[in-house]
Amino acid sequence: MNATANRTNSPEWNCIHTNDSATMFPTNFAWGAATSAYQIEGGWDVDDKGPSIWDTFCHEGGRLVFEGQSGDVTCNSYELWEEDLRCIRQLGLTHYRLSLSWSRLLPEGITQHVNQKGLRYYNKVINDLLASDVLPMVTLYHFDLPQALQDQGGWKSPEIAAIFDSYARFCFETFGDRVKLWITLNEPYVCAKLGHEDGIFAPGVKEPGMAAYLVGHNMLRGHARAWHSYNVLYRAKQGGSVSLAINSDWAEPLDPASPDDTAATERYLAFTLGWFAWPLFVTGDYPEVMRSSIEVRSKELGYQEGSRLPRFSKDEPSLLGTADFFALNYYTSRRVKQGECCPGVLGLKSDQDAEGVVDPSWPVCGVSWLAVVPDGLRKLLKYVKDTFNNPAVYITENGFSQVGPVDMEDVQRCGFYHDIIQEVARALREDGVDVRGYFAWSLLDNFEWADGFSVRFGLFHVDFSRPERPRTAYRSGREYAGIISKYRSQTMVNT
Ligand code: NOJ
Repeated sequence: MNATANRTNSPEWNCIHTNDSATMFPTNFAWGAATSAYQIEGGWDVDDKGPSIWDTFCHEGGRLVFEGQSGDVTCNSYELWEEDLRCIRQLGLTHYRLSLSWSRLLPEGITQHVNQKGLRYYNKVINDLLASDVLPMVTLYHFDLPQALQDQGGWKSPEIAAIFDSYARFCFETFGDRVKLWITLNEPYVCAKLGHEDGIFAPGVKEPGMAAYLVGHNMLRGHARAWHSYNVLYRAKQGGSVSLAINSDWAEPLDPASPDDTAATERYLAFTLGWFAWPLFVTGDYPEVMRSSIEVRSKELGYQEGSRLPRFSKDEPSLLGTADFFALNYYTSRRVKQGECCPGVLGLKSDQDAEGVVDPSWPVCGVSWLAVVPDGLRKLLKYVKDTFNNPAVYITENGFSQVGPVDMEDVQRCGFYHDIIQEVARALREDGVDVRGYFAWSLLDNFEWADGFSVRFGLFHVDFSRPERPRTAYRSGREYAGIISKYRSQTMVNT
């Protein structure tokens, strides 16, 4: 039975009424929610913070951010952190995933100049979380490169890997006595593709078929250096884990009987998940199908200078083995067919030569790209287990959005959280996937990048029209709290 149909209208906390009592989660399962610095903090130029590429992108005219909005103030979490903590406690989270604003800590991106007030802010956040029995998962980079580094070439420049490594070391050194779960980079695919191919995310570069591969490459190099730094300098005394958050749709052939669709599906997954997971978990290099597709297409285009997909140098720290767990951001699924992209066009889409379509039976929630397919998560988790050597997995993001008039009694999202947690449970119990935690995106309604405030992912509604930015739990926030409390108490009974 659909979970939503089985639910009462009672507004109290712990309001789930389902017959899934067989569902169990491991004792230490992480029940989390996630946010990112630019999306919630505001305080974009206070207390010595340097500008980031998102500050620039939103402030420059002619960018395609919804109604010219920006993250200048957003949830104002820089001032209102204690309100966020109240929300975190209300949900009963065991973990909270946040990101550090690189340019708040290091205004020019380099460790020669540290902003003490930024340092104080993050120390308070981390200490308050721990004092509330909530473990932080900290992302070092969530789309917001210091503008000063962009001015030197940003992620396209090979030097960025070493600069990121020194920022990472600074963070490990400063916060690593208390932070045990680290994400180096969030969604390098999105930074590469939306930021440097389509140009719809900061820094707004549009160099199809070229820049994205270079950016992805330097992000991987930066990640690998940071992981090796942690491994050599901090692991023994701090005992934490470090990974890279990789986003991917689940994908399956539009026509399962069609060899073309099957091959296109393989390319689709290779160009998203595989691009960043293969180097870390399988070979230390990009998936073979990605290399060969790009090479073939490059030749067709008469491209002379070797592949557009760079090679990893043997003189640099190796990529293979540089993830202590698999950090997966899952939102949606696609059925895939061979691409219809015109040959002769330079671009990722034409290299990939695969097109994902939404199955008409899948509901689309809020934003057009977000077809809601909870069982796609289970399938993707199984694929991750089988393809990447059974890693420990944290689902570091997953969510359901709302657009249009605010609906505080969001029963559909309640049903969604119920269904998705059931899929996680099945992956654990029936497929044997080593899932360690689930982070809902997002704790709060926030600045949804190019969609501004028009798309709301929060478990808490934020009233952006009022200076106090009041936070109010959606019904789905109460539902998620109920799910957490139910499974945590089951776990406790059984331990
Ligand atoms: C993934 C990104 O990491 C996050 O910043 C974004 O808000 C969500 N997807 C929803 O689009």
